[in-house]
Amino acid sequence: MSRLVVVSNRVAVPSKSSGGAGGGLAVALKAALKASGGIWFGWSGEVAEHPSAAPDIKRSDSVTYATLDLSPDDHATYYNGFSNSTLWPLFHYRLDLTDFTRQTYGGYMRVNGMFAGRLLPMLDPADRIWVHDYHLIPLAEHLRNMGVQARMGFFLHTPFPVPEVLTALPNHETLLRSMCAYDLIGFQTATDREAFVGYLVREAQGERLGDDLIRAYGRTLKTGVYPISVETGDIARLAQEAYRSRHSERMRESLVDKQLIIGVDRLDYSKGLVKRFEAFENLLEHYVDNRGRVVFMQIAPPSREDVKEYIEIRQELEAKAGHINGAYADFDWMPIRYLNKGFSRRNLLGFYRTAEIGLVTPLRDGMNLVAKEYVAAQDPEGPGVLILSRFAGAADELATGALIVNPYDVEAVAQALQRALTMPLDERRQRYEAMMAVLESNDIRHWWRRFTADLTAAPFAADDPTGAAAA
Ligand code: UDP
Ligand code: G6P
Repeated sequence: MSRLVVVSNRVAVPSKSSGGAGGGLAVALKAALKASGGIWFGWSGEVAEHPSAAPDIKRSDSVTYATLDLSPDDHATYYNGFSNSTLWPLFHYRLDLTDFTRQTYGGYMRVNGMFAGRLLPMLDPADRIWVHDYHLIPLAEHLRNMGVQARMGFFLHTPFPVPEVLTALPNHETLLRSMCAYDLIGFQTATDREAFVGYLVREAQGERLGDDLIRAYGRTLKTGVYPISVETGDIARLAQEAYRSRHSERMRESLVDKQLIIGVDRLDYSKGLVKRFEAFENLLEHYVDNRGRVVFMQIAPPSREDVKEYIEIRQELEAKAGHINGAYADFDWMPIRYLNKGFSRRNLLGFYRTAEIGLVTPLRDGMNLVAKEYVAAQDPEGPGVLILSRFAGAADELATGALIVNPYDVEAVAQALQRALTMPLDERRQRYEAMMAVLESNDIRHWWRRFTADLTAAPFAADDPTGAAAA
């Protein structure tokens, strides 16, 4: 089998801790690469005045980690700028938060070109190159222009916006043209894929060739739906151990039999935390029996701390948590435990298993692995209830067992909380089993195998590899 070269901005280099804010991409790729081996190329997470031209190489088990530092200017324009102040809000339907200026686009293209140049000497023509996420959309085009003909796939971990939203981006055409340099593009949900294909048909006279092939900008590419997942079996086993750990025991002691609602999210405006706090407040206001009996623990490690919108959301949430605790707390009960720090995955698994409710209410999310982890970590004999936003990719797969909510509808989320807090064991079990059946058939290995098998079959037409014919 040919070598797999994985490229992503965030790399889970073994010796480095992300403090819990590394996000789902790093967690999932780490689990998957451990099983298959290969190269993992990307940003080191460090900013250096004079970054070295040669990647830093580390080997661990069967994975070679090759990482580059970013200069302060590249970090500001490529990472904080175009990736996280333009593409991230836009792809999460937050036009109100999107920076539409063209100032950072140059930095984004420059770093993509730089990544391509540094990766080039490491490549072999037989490699399969798998690029991840919105930071690196133009990477394949840069590599093709450097003469690389290897098979290249791209997986988008975030939602893909509908054409009406995407076309608000000044550079949408250049960006989408460059996206077509890949052979295979994977999305989290059918809705995301349809939005992408819809754009190509509408804006680029793209031609659908059967179910999953599309021809646009002089190239033929395959698109697919590959919902990312978790290590279901390992999580179930580890959660059982973690539940008995000293950490989890201390947590239960501190609860003194109160019911626990848990939320775990990077501190990001897409996660719907303000509305979630309001929903919990609504529960306390209208379902008064819960006062003194229910604790909501929100774990929210800070993320992308240089970006203005992330500073603002942090302040807003601090005020909200303080306000709710101020209004409802008593001498022996604090309704919200709001933690601005990350926990190891092991500790999280113990907490998930302790919690009666997993509250996952993003306003938009590509998938949301926390939802899947929460389910996989439950005790089959006495499982908790997952409350899940309809706007998370995970809702496509977990709707059979989760209580699906509209995260904007604070009253409906409060009602769902009340329903979950009082749900009979039989119903909880049925719902858990329905979700586990999905997570057992689509675990992280299945996701990985499906995408890499499809990539192995590329290319899907004898196109001009650079797409230059259509330029
Ligand atoms: N996570 C963690 N420690 C924390 C908070 C989160 O290890 O303190 C992990 C969590 O277990 C999950 C990932 O970070 O695997 C978050 O992925 P998700 O898809 O839910 O959201 P993302 O951060 O990628 O938007
Ligand atoms: C989401 C994105 C990932 C990103 C992660 C953490 O999961 O899809 O690409 O790595 O958030 O964000 P960060 O900016 O810290 O890498």
